[in-house]
Amino acid sequence: MRILVIGGTHFIGPAAVRCLHKTGHDITLFHRGQTESDDLPDVRHIHGDGERLADYAEDFERLAHEVVLDMRAMSEADVRAVMGAFRGIAQRVVTVSSMDVYRVAGRTYNVGEADPLPEEEWVRAIGRAAGWSGEVVVMPRDRLPEQLRWGGDSDQDLVADTTRIRAELGYAEGASRDEALRRTVAWERANPPTDVLPDMFDYAAEDAALARVG
Ligand SMILES: NC(=O)c1ccc[n+]([C@@H]2O[C@H](COP(=O)([O-])OP(=O)(O)OC[C@H]3O[C@@H](n4cnc5c(N)ncnc54)[C@H](OP(=O)(O)O)[C@@H]3O)[C@@H](O)[C@H]2O)c1
Repeated sequence: MRILVIGGTHFIGPAAVRCLHKTGHDITLFHRGQTESDDLPDVRHIHGDGERLADYAEDFERLAHEVVLDMRAMSEADVRAVMGAFRGIAQRVVTVSSMDVYRVAGRTYNVGEADPLPEEEWVRAIGRAAGWSGEVVVMPRDRLPEQLRWGGDSDQDLVADTTRIRAELGYAEGASRDEALRRTVAWERANPPTDVLPDMFDYAAEDAALARVG
């Protein structure tokens, strides 16, 4: 099958591209060319901006991809733009994204764990995987330093039901949670972020907040 992958050169992208390539599909990657990856198979790249898909209409029509795998959409508007650009060309658009794109979805497959952990347990599990032996302290939001106040509502759990992807597509974890975290920590250490914002870190303010809870 001819598949156009939008994005696909970073983080979960190369794993998906390798898997599609291994199963014999003809793959084209569409991305800006700012992020490349050594662990991609030898596939066609089109460098372009996903914000201006209409500019590449001739390429898309010529290559006539049957499926578009969108690995950069963040919002409903992003997905609508992709569906518009490939209407009459591709038979299916598959979007890998977070939950905001659900409003556009024809069929949704949640990817997640069968036994999701509460946030605090996640922090402990990631700490263990990273070989960190510190103490996790839970603090009320109003006592947190400004840079640690997250916009989401952590008073309620958000759990995605993964029954459909397991039953219909045969999805199953390829590794245990501990092993997956260990590999993820190793990957993050080998690929440190290049765009860390200094404003996200204020260790003096964190120490002061901790001292106040005793
Ligand atoms: N990572 C997560 O924790 C997470 C969680 C939930 C959902 N998701 C969803 O999973 C998908 C993949 O995420 P990821 O974290 O694996 O990928 P990522 O690291 O965000 O990689 C982004 C990819 O999109 C390309 N890209 C970025 N801006 C572009 C633009 N304007 N036009 C064309 N290409 C562009 C990048 O290549 P260039 O830089 O070369 O353009 C790269 O290949 C995304 O839809 C994301 O919303 C990820």
